[in-house]
Amino acid sequence: MEFDIIVKGGTLPDGRVADIAISGGKIVAIDREIAGQAGRMIEAAGNLVAPPFVDPHFHMDATLSYGLPRINASGTLLEGISLWGELKPLLTYEAVKERALAYCDWAVSMGLLAIRSHVDTCDDRLLAVEALLEVQKEVSPYIDLQLVAFPQDGFYRSATARENTIRALDMGVQVIGGIPHFERTMADGTRSITELCEIAADRGLMVDMHCDETDDPLSRHIEQLAFETQRLGLHGRVAGSHLTSMHSMDNYYVSKLLPLMAEAGVSAIPNPLINIMLQGRHDTYPKRRGLTRVPEMLKHGIRVGWGQDCVLDPWYSLGTADMLDVAFMGLHVAQMSSPDDMRRCFDMVTNVNAEIMGLDHLGLQVGKTASLVILDAGDPIEAIRLRPDRLCVIAKGKVVAEKDKRDTTLSIPGRAKSVNRRHKLPV
Ligand code: FE2
Repeated sequence: MEFDIIVKGGTLPDGRVADIAISGGKIVAIDREIAGQAGRMIEAAGNLVAPPFVDPHFHMDATLSYGLPRINASGTLLEGISLWGELKPLLTYEAVKERALAYCDWAVSMGLLAIRSHVDTCDDRLLAVEALLEVQKEVSPYIDLQLVAFPQDGFYRSATARENTIRALDMGVQVIGGIPHFERTMADGTRSITELCEIAADRGLMVDMHCDETDDPLSRHIEQLAFETQRLGLHGRVAGSHLTSMHSMDNYYVSKLLPLMAEAGVSAIPNPLINIMLQGRHDTYPKRRGLTRVPEMLKHGIRVGWGQDCVLDPWYSLGTADMLDVAFMGLHVAQMSSPDDMRRCFDMVTNVNAEIMGLDHLGLQVGKTASLVILDAGDPIEAIRLRPDRLCVIAKGKVVAEKDKRDTTLSIPGRAKSVNRRHKLPV
């Protein structure tokens, strides 16, 4: 056989119709028409063929634990953290691993093939770290799982967090996290950023901090994160997750902050499903949206991705492992409604998120890893609108998930027909 797989006649995100040839786990050709034999011919039939979905912010140690040991009654971040604290001593290695693997199955079925997961380092047993390192190994043939050492209860606020976070890095966790807004004082939060970034610089690691996940306009830890990124030469390796306080900050202050973030090359990872759910809970009306300033950051050239954060856990009672849900919510809350912005949101949950995670091998280009997804939609905007079936998912050169296309048929008199909810937009 000349090729392992040829995907015939797919519509690429940029609108081109092309065949994609795959061999040895790589994309070896993309062309209008590829002649030749293949072990497997897949007819894309004009459907959208996209790079895989990527989630740069998730908590795989907590996922699918909704209701254990109880639900979050107030719906706040802080009750979620204390609820997680109640569940933590009850966790077992086996249960964490089983839930994580079950979630990875969901992810693959939705074409989500790269995930950055924070793992809590405030349990002295570090069993979630052990379990997720094992899951990382098991799913590596089809999912790039990147782990962040995350001192959930505070790097200084929790007595053993500092030691345990360093132990987790020694065990092989690849990214260093933090939660400055949850330290006891603003000063401790600032200090934690400095120390965590210094550890990252010493060890050559990436940084991804939960940063300013609050409605408090004076929570300004992102400023310190940008400063340390600059001071320690960590450009391109640092992300600030959430940044919700920016929604409420003084406009003049933000006009100074955004250029500093751009200069430092700090990426931003808002998590719209969670931010719109958790933030503004102390407000009456008007109620703040609690999403960071995405269009403004994009205008300043700051790299912004969309993260999912949670699925069925102490913080969020829904979730489907579908990054199109995330893009859909983000687009609404950030009011990114123009065609260019909507296409950009699709790019954010695929290519941009991969860039933030440093996954240069992903993307729909010759020479890249053959990971892609065929969707039951005609283009990226339609994909966000429909959040449709993933017809076929290819990971690292192998078909890992497939779904039969099936329209719904109406049986209303005079309206008997098949309905697929597609709608072609005027050009
Ligand atoms: Fe998070």
